[in-house]
Amino acid sequence: MQRHVCWIIGLVGLSSLGLGCARTDGPAGSEIVIGEFGSLSGSEATFGVSTKEGIDLAASEINAAGGVLGKRIVVKVENDESLEDRVAAAVQKLINYHNAVVVIGEVASGRSMVGGPICENAGVPMVTPSSTNPKVTERKKWVFRVCWTDDFQGEAMARFAYETLGARKSAVFTAINQAYSQGLAEYYEKTFKDLGGNVVATESYQGGKDRDFKAQLTNIKSMAPDVLFIPGYYTDVGAIATQARQVGISVPLLGGDGWEAEELFTQAKDVIEGSYYSTHYSSDEERPEVSNFVTAYKAKFSKTPDAMSALGYDAMKVVADAIRRAGSVDQEAIRAALEGTKEFPGVTGSITIDENHNARKPLVVQQLKGGKPTFVKSVQM
Ligand code: PHE
Repeated sequence: MQRHVCWIIGLVGLSSLGLGCARTDGPAGSEIVIGEFGSLSGSEATFGVSTKEGIDLAASEINAAGGVLGKRIVVKVENDESLEDRVAAAVQKLINYHNAVVVIGEVASGRSMVGGPICENAGVPMVTPSSTNPKVTERKKWVFRVCWTDDFQGEAMARFAYETLGARKSAVFTAINQAYSQGLAEYYEKTFKDLGGNVVATESYQGGKDRDFKAQLTNIKSMAPDVLFIPGYYTDVGAIATQARQVGISVPLLGGDGWEAEELFTQAKDVIEGSYYSTHYSSDEERPEVSNFVTAYKAKFSKTPDAMSALGYDAMKVVADAIRRAGSVDQEAIRAALEGTKEFPGVTGSITIDENHNARKPLVVQQLKGGKPTFVKSVQM
């Protein structure tokens, strides 16, 4: 009951004035509550669902091995329905109602940029598994990520286009309302130009809203690019690729980690055949961390894990490792332990948190062949 009252106080904003209630480490002190906010429904539903599955698998493995500090990990999830304006309530509820010791989330950078400041003000460590926009962790004491950032991703894909594919003219089609898409486009364009390439067309759309992209794609077609970079989310990429082919764009399409969704690869199979995208890991990699994870995940969920599942899994394991090293559920101690994460053997690579709270890891370029991503190359930072 007491915690319910705290949550209501939090909702009306008094917690930000320091009138919130003291946190405990879960009922009877036998549990450690980890909160997750994610898009379990709405336009990017697979992001939230995949991440949750990865987190749940990690938590069940941790608990089967005796938990952390002798306590069970309990994961509480709040759905933000893929909407930025639902994020504040979801994160407040995790902190003030569920008493989350650490918050994991979100996938989409724009939503992590809403949740981050709330955790920052509350003094609750937040770890995003997969938000890649540099701004998410910028000047944040309490916000971390276990993935690389879009300056690296944008540069890697521009180099891939210029050096590997030999492209000299690139077009870029960006979601104007998504921080992720904007940032990734910016870094890609900068590198492509620095290498001596020409960005011959930049067009934009409203991510998650627009359905007809033909006008912009026709403009792109008229500039005869060698490649078309689409730094968007999978929900839009299928329709964009279909219409690109319809207006006669036949050059390779390139994308980033936002493409990562099986439904895009299978439903848009023919129109994205041969396209390339960058991502965080490949389930085909032969490292033992990858094969163990893929086997356990398949046994539990009867499907191959995508990058979000792998990152959700890694985020949960990194958080548990930090709590163990902190030796308590004191949030300042956990924050300091997260900062000290070094060479944690993750599924998505060795994780070291740098001074900006980001992880330095390799990136994987995949090509779509017959509806399946196939490993092309790994790019080191
Ligand atoms: N990196 C994307 C973002 O920051 C989210 C994402 C991560 C999407 C991994 C798919 C896979 O918004």
